[in-house]
Amino acid sequence: MGIEKTFSIIKPNAVKKGVIGDIIKQFEENGLRIAAAKLTVLSKDKCELFYAEHKERPFFGELVSFMTSGPVMLMCLAGENAVAKNREIMGATDPKKAAPGTIRAKHGDSVGENAAHGSDSPASAQRELAIFFDKHEFANL
Ligand code: RTP
Ligand code: MG
Repeated sequence: MGIEKTFSIIKPNAVKKGVIGDIIKQFEENGLRIAAAKLTVLSKDKCELFYAEHKERPFFGELVSFMTSGPVMLMCLAGENAVAKNREIMGATDPKKAAPGTIRAKHGDSVGENAAHGSDSPASAQRELAIFFDKHEFANL
């Protein structure tokens, strides 16, 4: 399959808890490498653009307000099957349903505050990475 890129966000609740290192360790131990990263606070505009597919959902306002409430860690993860692998390491959207040992089972507080985001397809990954990173920012791993 070759090396694939995916987009990952360590969400504000996880950054606040001080578990960035634990989450990155889990990615690295599972064969994903960081190809780009930045710790930042999302603007409302960029956050709404990023979550555009959820604009009509009842939780959209709450989602944007949570995601802009504090610092997040934005990352490009690279590796074989990175999109699927990242989602497996994160676990199900609802931390209560996430498999034991996954990031969301360990660090998620609720469906909304579920510690991490991961692109759901290579096409989404490309769209999402382009919102937050310039081409020259990716490491050639
Ligand atoms: P993500 O995009 O964040 O990796 O999560 P996902 O694919 O597992 O879930 P998705 O359906 O894309 O939902 C995006 C994010 O919206 C929040 N959400 N809140 N309150 C709710 O019922 C609800 N449902 C979804 C979650 O933070 C989810 O990660
Ligand atoms: Mg999603």
